[in-house]
Amino acid sequence: MSSSIVNLVYLFAGVLFILGIKGLTKPATAVRGNMLSATGMLIAVVITLLNSEIVNFTYIIAGVLFGGVVGAFMALRIQMTSMPQMVALLNGFGGGASLTIASAEYFSVLNIDAHTFADLLQPVALGADAFGTGAEGQVTLVSIGLTILIGAVTLTGSLVAFAKLQGLVKKNFGLPGGPIGNGLLLIGGLVALGCMIANPSQAVTVLALIALALLLGLFLVLPIGGADMPVVIALLNSYSGLAAALAGFILGNTVLIVAGSLVGTSGLILTKIMCVAMNRSLGNVLFGKMAAAGEAVDADEIYAGKVTSAQPDEVAMMLEVAKRVVIVPGYGMAMAQAQHAVRELADSMESKGIEVEYGIHPVAGRMPGHMNVLLAEAEVPYDNLVEMDRINPTFEDTDVVIVIGANDVTNPMARDAEGSPIYGMPILNVDKAKNVVVIKRSLSPGFAGLPNPLFAMDHTLMVYGDGKKAVLEMTTALNQS
Ligand code: TAP
Repeated sequence: MSSSIVNLVYLFAGVLFILGIKGLTKPATAVRGNMLSATGMLIAVVITLLNSEIVNFTYIIAGVLFGGVVGAFMALRIQMTSMPQMVALLNGFGGGASLTIASAEYFSVLNIDAHTFADLLQPVALGADAFGTGAEGQVTLVSIGLTILIGAVTLTGSLVAFAKLQGLVKKNFGLPGGPIGNGLLLIGGLVALGCMIANPSQAVTVLALIALALLLGLFLVLPIGGADMPVVIALLNSYSGLAAALAGFILGNTVLIVAGSLVGTSGLILTKIMCVAMNRSLGNVLFGKMAAAGEAVDADEIYAGKVTSAQPDEVAMMLEVAKRVVIVPGYGMAMAQAQHAVRELADSMESKGIEVEYGIHPVAGRMPGHMNVLLAEAEVPYDNLVEMDRINPTFEDTDVVIVIGANDVTNPMARDAEGSPIYGMPILNVDKAKNVVVIKRSLSPGFAGLPNPLFAMDHTLMVYGDGKKAVLEMTTALNQS
């Protein structure tokens, strides 16, 4: 097949990727966007298979079948609350794939007749242009080295992220010296990379590079708290894209370079958005710690004698006379799987002429778009989901805000308490509403481990209980009124 036709098809696939990503920016177009990108990828894969000199399709078909069955099984079985660990695992597979491509390219050039590990360590006689002539050879070698480094870090880092989110690894621990230990591993890896470029005939340098990079991935992520994993996963997602783009340089495959670069940059942008919304620097997420519960504020001092609780039927009476209600969901709604119950409550209120909107914080829950996805699953109309900046000015004219399983994203300390660990994090100003109802099981803190003065305010009612059960009871009481 002529290379210009192949490149034209690759260009078309690249355009589909970009249109797909654009579609993903809005819930209403997200499914179409996903389909566009997937179609682009299918076209790119098919044209690559038709174009390349494939010696044997057996392994490819077996791989597609095996991978397809495993992927479909995982996608069908996975709970929405376990989505972050699934993404972590897929990022790891991406990094592992790039690592194996780069290693295979390197070792196929060396063509070592190795029967034992010691055979691998013997230098090989290589021609000057073994990896390509002049600058081309240097680009290939540098790409191989960087792909191995980034791919291996992504592989082990993502596996640790998966294990932490799945509760398989509960402790946070790192190398002695923390970032210094990791810095030494990185320097070691870069030295091995330099040696490999200077003298590619020594496979021992590549083996050292692989080992150091795998260890670096492990020890980069092991010290990070499980709760910070979503940010780490976005970063690892970016690394997996970068590794794929570099693998594209090794294979001379344009569409891999384009797709990898898109994943790399969008992962970085997502990482930045999450850090900004949590008011934390990337350095703080990777190398720091959030202040522990109670370190800065005493919960008893905030709550003692000031918290008022209510039953769901009392809240229903309040809703009956409301004109405008805003529902603010958080991580607890996901844990309670209360999205369908929430939608039924909203339907019931709307049937009584009450205006209902949803206030969505960018980092409510544990992954980007967590609340949007859950509410879309319950078929809440997209137009009713209002982003933080647009909903905040409306709280003063809101009769009741129902906060369901959200905590940190409503904590006024982020706005008012200078010196608090979350000071500066943008929040939903629900305390400005006329009445606030908070549904959660107790006064326990959220992700940031801090008490929330909202719960002790005069116009706040706490409804203690599981989110789904409490909302269902509210709806029943409202329907009976
Ligand atoms: P959180 O502050 O974590 O609070 C969630 C609350 O849900 C808890 O206080 C918990 O209280 C309650 N809850 C748990 N299970 C429940 C159930 N079955 N029924 C009712 N309530 C339940 O949640 P948030 O306000 O959504 O804030 C998200 C936090 O995660 C932020 O600090 C954010 O920075 C962080 N974070 C988010 C992301 C992304 S991308 N979304 C990434 C990393 C970190 P009880 O135990 O008393 O019920």
